[in-house]
Amino acid sequence: MMVPAPLLLLGLLCSGFVGRGDGACAEVDSDTEAVAGRGFKLGCISCKRRSEVEGAATVEWYFRPKGESDFLQIYSYDENGATIENELFMDRIDWNGSKRSNDIQDASIYLLNVTFNDSGTYRCFFYRVLFYDNYEYKDVIDKVVHLTVVAKATRGTASIVSEVMMYVSIIGLQVWLLIEMIYCYRKIAAAGEEALREAANAEYLAIASESKDNCAGVQVGE
Ligand SMILES: *[C@@H]1O[C@H](CO)[C@@H](O)[C@H](O)[C@H]1NC(C)=O
Ligand SMILES: *[C@@H]1O[C@H](CO)[C@@H](O)[C@H](O)[C@H]1NC(C)=O
Ligand SMILES: *[C@@H]1O[C@H](CO)[C@@H](O)[C@H](O)[C@H]1NC(C)=O
Repeated sequence: MMVPAPLLLLGLLCSGFVGRGDGACAEVDSDTEAVAGRGFKLGCISCKRRSEVEGAATVEWYFRPKGESDFLQIYSYDENGATIENELFMDRIDWNGSKRSNDIQDASIYLLNVTFNDSGTYRCFFYRVLFYDNYEYKDVIDKVVHLTVVAKATRGTASIVSEVMMYVSIIGLQVWLLIEMIYCYRKIAAAGEEALREAANAEYLAIASESKDNCAGVQVGE
């Protein structure tokens, strides 16, 4: 089927439009479960409402350890670059957000070597300025991530038990199969010997009777 030319043109225009705009920004929520000893990306995305307006933003991250009441500043990212603001996270945070731009919309950070002490609440702040023709519009946006840190292989006991059962049943089945095979082999072998013996006897009898017949035949023939 032919696609009508105007429709095709419209389609091309639309895809061009979407491609050119800042259609890539989507406010995906952060993951909330980290594994101890590994790295973890703390996500924080704030898309500009008006993608066509020039903007700039700086970012601050705060952390409240589980069971505590106060937030500590742990990280900031601005025109001067990244700064880790707290001993707890020294050399353990990398920037995972917007690169080579002041117009930050993704302020995600990457925690290296997560420990159980990293459990708690994280909060990121965007201090954003939008540059309109005649004025600047300032805005503060914050997002919260509740992080739980789990041990390396947290699997329910049920799943471990069922895995063990699986191996036990597989091995059990094989052993049973082997025993069955040996048993059957012996039985067949025994039966075979019996059969051979019987067959030999039968043959012997047959030959004997045949030779008797032959003899009889010969006698008759003579
Ligand atoms: C985030 O940063 C870490 C450490 O620098 C890096 O390994 C990882 O690939 C980065 N992820 C993204 C999505 O940029
Ligand atoms: C993570 O911790 C291990 C052991 O404590 C250490 O050897 C390693 O260098 C650490 N990695 C980072 C990126 O800090
Ligand atoms: C976790 O916190 C406890 C209590 O503050 C501290 O004794 C311990 O050394 C910390 N562990 C790590 C890996 O930072």
